[in-house]
Parts: sequence; structure tokens; C-alpha cells
Amino acid sequence: MAVDVLLGLQWGDEGKGKIVDVLAPQYDIIARFQGGPNAGHTLIFDGKKFVLHTVPSGIFRPGLKNIIGNGVVIDPITLSKELDQLDAAGVDYAGRLFVARKAHLILPSHRLLDAARENAKGDRKIGSTLKGIGPTYMDKTGRNGLRVGNIEAPDFRERYEELKEKHKQLVGLYPFVEFELAKEEEAWFKAVERLQTLEFVDGEYWINDAIKRGDKILAEGAQGSMLDIDFGTYPFVTSSNTITAGVCTGLGIAPQQIGEVIGITKAYCTRVGGGPFPTELTGETGEFLRAEGGEFGATTGRPRRCGWIDLVQLRYTIMLSGVTQLVVTKVDVLNKFETLKVADAYKVDGSLSHELPFDLVHENYEAVYTDVPGWNSNLTSVKEEANLPKACIDYVQFLEEKLGTRVSMVSTGPDREELVVR
Ligand code: GDP
Ligand code: IMO
Ligand code: MG
Repeated sequence: MAVDVLLGLQWGDEGKGKIVDVLAPQYDIIARFQGGPNAGHTLIFDGKKFVLHTVPSGIFRPGLKNIIGNGVVIDPITLSKELDQLDAAGVDYAGRLFVARKAHLILPSHRLLDAARENAKGDRKIGSTLKGIGPTYMDKTGRNGLRVGNIEAPDFRERYEELKEKHKQLVGLYPFVEFELAKEEEAWFKAVERLQTLEFVDGEYWINDAIKRGDKILAEGAQGSMLDIDFGTYPFVTSSNTITAGVCTGLGIAPQQIGEVIGITKAYCTRVGGGPFPTELTGETGEFLRAEGGEFGATTGRPRRCGWIDLVQLRYTIMLSGVTQLVVTKVDVLNKFETLKVADAYKVDGSLSHELPFDLVHENYEAVYTDVPGWNSNLTSVKEEANLPKACIDYVQFLEEKLGTRVSMVSTGPDREELVVR
């Protein structure tokens, strides 16, 4: 099987960027298959920090090819800023960064619509990153969208204007929001020129040719499984399929090409934006996790909501994606606890359940916790399993048992090197 998958099993920010960067040398191609610049993937190595939004996290590994697949939505402005970041760091991406022609474009007026719609929601806000994701995927499924391949056609400007006009009419349905459309447009067209310096490919042929050549591919997920448009905490979700199924439609590959599915979970849990979070800690402990874990959004800087790990939720997302191995990140953030809590069941309408209820927004349920001993010692930077405290190994084994899935890596700090491979 040529294509392995790496994806987040919670509500995003599980540490996908770091782990893709670690695993990248084992692959020939890293492929983003969904989402867009709502993602923020952080990579730290050699004392430097990078945040990627659209560019796959294999870009820092020389020689490796990276593709932005058809399932991704691209804002040329964000992408151009990412390229600036790479240029400043002396990363040579020429001939290594490919863009699928069938990927949809985020227009400035998509962002305007996102802002207007979200603003109109009042206290029912999704907490969108306001990057234009929802409106762009709406135009994709509504069959109005503009794609990367359209840039090369003579009627591109005309089609752009037509879509923009449609958006302006829609914006009129909502209360006014501040947005400098003309200025954003100018930046956008400049960024489109920059985008054209990358290599556009028919992604589905490109990737299947690579498979035929025997190349090894890692599909890099964005967001998390609980933000999946079909199976997440709807309507507090993003607009793409963030689970393994999204890899096939987002790259144009057949299911039988999928090999290992690497699911990432934090040793606890976070969520940024609105929506249900059954194990959320709203008091001191939550604040403590936020401070220890530096839990502030990589894209928006917003404080992330923090809580205990939720095994009911994880079993659900492991099932949806056919996860074959787990990576547990940020165990070091739990260093100072005597006791940890783990949600292992829910009480739904008074009865114990091991399944997520249909509607986490409205149904009557609560998480039921089991206590697990903490290690209360410093394991930051540990690289060998033998150097992990016994209570930490016990915690990892407890998760393996409860989730029925092997933990192949434990991340002990943000740096590329801070990792225990098991
Ligand atoms: P992604 O969206 O899944 O790629 O994750 P983000 O980059 O948004 O958020 C993960 C954050 O945790 C980043 O700031 C990482 O540098 C950091 N991080 C990743 N792994 C670890 C870890 O094992 N320990 C600690 N303390 N930080 C980590
Ligand atoms: P990475 O790839 C965490 C959340 C937003 C909001 C909801 C919808 O870094 O893990 P959208 O902008 O898609 O309309 O927002 O989804 N969200 C994320 N949360 N990590 C992400 O990506 C996210 N991308 C979107 O906060 O609640
Ligand atoms: Mg992130």
C-alpha cells in the first residue's frame, strides 16, 4: 500500500505538523488532502519555529515532493505569505511544491461572506477562523467555485467578477461588517501571480503515476476528526471530510491504496472555537493546562479550551478512520499532576453509554471519569521509552488497552527531536 495517512483524532491542533515533519524522511511525497488556511501546523527544529497553513509539512525535508491536493481550498494570499516565510528561511521549494488544478480558490469575497455570516450568528457563532472556508466549500458543492486550473483560462477575470458579484448580493442579507474588499482584491491578484510560479498539475494523474512508480506517500490531515463535516459536532464543525475517507476524494486515489492510518491525540484534549466539548475544564485545571501546553491557536492566536482526554470520543474517531496506530502528543504538559482523569463512558439520560449521542449540542449527557495516577515529574525532552517514568508508560499502555490500538510514538516536547518511538 502506497499511501499512509496521518490525521488528528480530536478537535484539531493535536501536533500533526510536528509528526508529519518527523516522519517525512520515510516518504517521497507529502500530500495535503483537505481543509485550507484554517489549519495552523507548527514545526520546531534547530531552534526555529514555522507555522504552515496550506503548504504540506514535508517542505523542510530536502528532496521531498509536496502536493496541495484537489480537496484543499487555497487562499493565494496566505499561500504567498507562507512562501515568503520559506524564502526567508532559505528553503528551496522550486520543483518540490505542486498544486492540484482541481483545488478550489478562496476569494476575498469568500472571507467577507464568512465574516458577515459569523457576525450575524450572535451567540451561536461557530468560532470560524474567518479564512473563508465555509463559503468556499459551499461554492464547491453548489457548483459555482473557481479552481486553480481556471487561472490559466482566458476568462478567469470574468469568472472572478461574476462570483464576486454573487457574493456581494449575499453579503447584503447580513448586517454590515468592515472589510476592505478593493484592497484585498489587489493583494489577491498579486498573490495569484505568485501562485502561478508553482507547478500546477492534474493531481489525480500525478499522484497515481507516483504510486505506479513505487513512491511512498503520506497524506497529511488538517483540523480534527471531531470537526468533520459529516461526523463531527455539527454544526460546530469545518466544511470538509477530515477523516480517512477524505483522502480518497481529496487526492483522487482509490481506497485500496491506503496503508497505515496514524491517528494523533493529545494526552489531554483541546478545542478552539464554539461547540460542545464534553470533557472541558472551565476552571483552574483548564487554565493550568492552557498555560503549560501553550494552548493558543496557531492560526488565530485565540486561547484554546482545555479538558481531559475522552476515550468515548477517541474510540469513535478511531473507528471512523480505521486508525492502525496512535501517536500521543504533549504528555509533558501533564508533568505536574498527581492524578489524571480520563473519560471512559458517558451517562446519557441517566444510563451508561460507550457511544457518542447523536447530538452533543442538545442531548442530556455527561462524561464519566476514571482516575489514573500521574507521574508528577519532568519528562520534557525524553527520547527513550526507558527514560519515561513508569506512571507515564502505564498511562500510555492504559490508553492502548482502552482504545484497542497500538501507540507507536509519544511526543515529549514541541521540538522535532523530542519524541519516543516505540
Ligand atoms: P497541528 O495543527 O495538529 O499541527 O498542531 P498545532 O501546531 O496547531 O498545535 C500543536 C502545538 O503543540 C504547537 O505549538 C506545537 O509546537 C506544540 N507541540 C507539539 N507536540 C508537542 C509536545 O509533545 N509537547 C509540547 N509541550 N508541545 C508540543
Ligand atoms: P489544524 O489543522 C483547530 C475550527 C475553528 C472553528 C471551526 C470552523 O491546525 O488542526 P472554519 O475556519 O473551518 O470555518 O472553522 O473549526 N478549526 C480548527 N480548530 N485546529 C484547526 O486546524 C482548525 N481549523 C478549523 O476554530 O471552531
Ligand atoms: Mg493547528
